[in-house]
Amino acid sequence: MMDWTDRHCRYFLRQVAPRARLYTEMITTGALLHGDVARHLDFDPAEHPVAAQLGGSEPAELAQCVRLAAQWGYDEINLNIGCPSERVQHGAFGACLMAEPRLVADCVRAMRETSHLPVTVKHRVGIDKIESYDFMRDFVATVAEAGCTTFIVHARNAWLKGLSPKENREVPPLNYEFVYRLKREFPHLEIVMNGGIATWPEIEAHLAQLDGVMLGRAAYHNPWLLARDGGQSQRATVVQAMHAYARRECARGTALRHITRHMLGLYHGHHGARRWRQMLSDAVRLATNDPDLLLSALDTVESARPFPAAA
Ligand SMILES: Cc1cc2nc3c(=O)[nH]c(=O)nc-3n(C[C@H](O)[C@H](O)[C@H](O)COP(=O)(O)O)c2cc1C
Repeated sequence: MMDWTDRHCRYFLRQVAPRARLYTEMITTGALLHGDVARHLDFDPAEHPVAAQLGGSEPAELAQCVRLAAQWGYDEINLNIGCPSERVQHGAFGACLMAEPRLVADCVRAMRETSHLPVTVKHRVGIDKIESYDFMRDFVATVAEAGCTTFIVHARNAWLKGLSPKENREVPPLNYEFVYRLKREFPHLEIVMNGGIATWPEIEAHLAQLDGVMLGRAAYHNPWLLARDGGQSQRATVVQAMHAYARRECARGTALRHITRHMLGLYHGHHGARRWRQMLSDAVRLATNDPDLLLSALDTVESARPFPAAA
């Protein structure tokens, strides 16, 4: 997620969820080919399995980006055909490309020829007011012919005009049924559900019909959702691992706040959550750039834990 899932965030989420597949935010071909490659692609080996998500519509440029991501050691390349932002439409990529399945297929072909890495596609159930299942089905069928076998479907339309990117994640209604139908029609393809998933019962209901789920905002705001066991002491283990990480990173010049900002939700819904957030976002403490802030906050939250009820 742009501006959210940077490498510090992914390292943190990896401590919480040892097996989840993590994704970079979208990196456009222009940014990668003309920008600071290391800044976009660097990641910690602990993040594996990790996918690089690309945005673009020029097969040769996408292929060049795949080559770079393969050199960097990514496990998967994901092509973003779901982003509705106007800026992206002008660059001729994102969700508007759902109307050009042959071009997307050419992109996937060129990307697959470049490396051994799996190329997956993230898309919407439709664009604008197109409410037809066939539109999405034909898109997926054409792109699958180019060798893509995994489709991550954000289960709402992208409205390309009149809604902000934020509204495009909330306003068009969720349509899970189209995604289930897609799986029934293409049982050999891996179909992953995305959009509005925030609880384990929801995750399990989708997994009963599909191959996977992708969580965005819920995982960011309530990261402990990704850990099946909600025991408080295990949160402490995560904080200790992040303390060691922050010591390494701060010694290289990283600002502590770039790490702690992703950890604010760790105690979401738990005793001490407010105090945890306050301490980790306290500008005065953060200015000292001392990773021990994480241990102090942990001590505070753990000692604030109510005593277990007497038997
Ligand atoms: C701040 C923000 C940035 C996002 N950036 C991306 C992105 O770079 N690539 C992408 O595929 N989706 C991006 N998304 C969309 C999410 O990946 C996801 O598809 C959407 O939020 C619906 O899933 P959710 O309800 O689990 O959050 C972004 C979402 C947010 C909130």
